[in-house]
Amino acid sequence: MHVAVVFGGPSVEHDVSIITGQQVLAILGERHDVVPIYVAKDGRWWTGESLLTIQAFASDPPAGARPIELRLGSPTPLVAPSSGRFKRDEPLRVDVVVNAIHGTGGEDGSLLGALELAGLPYVGRGVAASAVAMDKHLAKVVLRDAGLEVLPHARFERDAWEQDPDAVQRAAREQGADVIVKPATLGSSVGVGRARTDEELQDALELAFELDRQVIVEPFAAGAQEMNVAVLGRPGGEYVVSEVEQPLGGDDGLSFDDKYLRGGKGAGGKAGGAKGAAATGGTKAAGDGKSSGMAGQDRLIPAPIEPELRDRLRAAAEQAHRALRIAGVTRYDFFVLEDGRILLNEPNTVPGSFAFYLFEHVGIAFPELLERLVGIAVA
Ligand code: DAL
Ligand code: MG
Repeated sequence: MHVAVVFGGPSVEHDVSIITGQQVLAILGERHDVVPIYVAKDGRWWTGESLLTIQAFASDPPAGARPIELRLGSPTPLVAPSSGRFKRDEPLRVDVVVNAIHGTGGEDGSLLGALELAGLPYVGRGVAASAVAMDKHLAKVVLRDAGLEVLPHARFERDAWEQDPDAVQRAAREQGADVIVKPATLGSSVGVGRARTDEELQDALELAFELDRQVIVEPFAAGAQEMNVAVLGRPGGEYVVSEVEQPLGGDDGLSFDDKYLRGGKGAGGKAGGAKGAAATGGTKAAGDGKSSGMAGQDRLIPAPIEPELRDRLRAAAEQAHRALRIAGVTRYDFFVLEDGRILLNEPNTVPGSFAFYLFEHVGIAFPELLERLVGIAVA
């Protein structure tokens, strides 16, 4: 099969996506004809053999890459247009697309909508599901409706902030004396800030509104423990629920640095690019203490929790996956409160490294995970 892997993208998670893309290409390349498609930050699309190694991304555009276009309505939607060296347009053969773009443009349904229009099967089917999952406000509304417990929140618009910042700040403060401010539609904790003092709140709102037109404010879940679970499957099909992980971060919740820059493996660094990267991601068994996950995040897998809590987290993740009607793999991030209640923090429909390190612990290795995802896409 000819499998295109799309990665990069316009979002703040661009470099993280390059790592996920390289990991997926390395594994899929063992069984399929892979076509790397790199979406640069400026929106141009590139392909070529050179994109199979991380070194190509040291320059912009990547060394040795050829431009390609997505031509909607064309029978062969992916085309390398004619250029000085190539006299004719060259259609690219692609049977299925794996979307490895995190965040804006990739995880919010935009790319998936274009692939729908182009008639290309893709991994992670569900434009509406993706759009809802990426919007922290909409996701809470849908998940709460499905019977899952989520943190209360307030949503604010940039227009309101620009017109009357004091009023927004007062309303934000109603969420508590200790709050978390988040851009509503970004990922990887970019622009997320904890605010106790009024000055902190103003700074956090300012930063979040610089990055997003919508911002949500939640009470800080003091003493909460973060726990993540991933689910693989599609509506009407079989669901596989992963092991539970406990990500390790600072007292203010997980920051971008906690997620990607710890352990000396920075985003876009040498963590990507090879089978080695995929094989080393977060695979240590319980009892080893900290294990390094995708792009260097510290985590405990399995999380050191009672079986009863593990069961509840895994059941809640499956319930969320069914509610969102996603066809693919999604990682659900939870808070476990001190009284034992579990709150769903957010779904991630294009999780870093496709959360392969969580499925390994339930007997599904990364190659098998990707085969299943491709299978769901072309079913
Ligand atoms: N948004 C990042 C990649 C994640 O949640 O894994
Ligand atoms: Mg996220």
